[in-house]
Amino acid sequence: MCQVNLNKYLDHNKVWAKKLNKSDADYFSHLQEGQHPIALLLGCSDSRVSPSTVLGIELGELFIHRNIANVVSHTDLNFLSVMQYAVENLNIKDIIVYGHYGCGGVKAAYEDKSNGMLDNWLANIKDVIRHHQNELNLIEDEELKLQKLVELNTLEQIENIKQTSVYKNALDKGIDLKLHAWVFDFSTGLVHDLKEKYKGKPVQV
Ligand code: CO
Repeated sequence: MCQVNLNKYLDHNKVWAKKLNKSDADYFSHLQEGQHPIALLLGCSDSRVSPSTVLGIELGELFIHRNIANVVSHTDLNFLSVMQYAVENLNIKDIIVYGHYGCGGVKAAYEDKSNGMLDNWLANIKDVIRHHQNELNLIEDEELKLQKLVELNTLEQIENIKQTSVYKNALDKGIDLKLHAWVFDFSTGLVHDLKEKYKGKPVQV
């Protein structure tokens, strides 16, 4: 088996830390004082969509959770805990669901092959497919159909966020949480705001 050399990352880290220390001697001590991120981002685990790289996020700026196909599952204590902490402790008012075209999780759910335990997770996306079956049936091109499904999956996770106790509690307290649906296209490097794309169309964001 090919041996992967991970030392380049540790080497890079040393150079990075030294460079930052040189440009701002207080940089790391400021980080120690605590975090005040301005938004929560839920993205896919895919190695090609790193939000920190794509969006230029500095340390301390965004609270981030990633899983396969950026799913909000109401039985996922991991994401629900992240969301609760973000809203109730970090006072975050903006939540971004950050999907991406070419998502393997979305494709696997669409192809409906057997993937073992992963199928339980992908069932969340199969619900999205069933929910929008008529709309998807109108698209003949498979690639365009999958792109549409990525968008619909991203939008559906916004709806799932609205059903969480954390979101409802925030509303009860008069906290206006703003939800954003973004999709990254790694064929162009650009991130699209679905609110812009679906402006005037009957899709809730
Ligand atoms: Co993905």
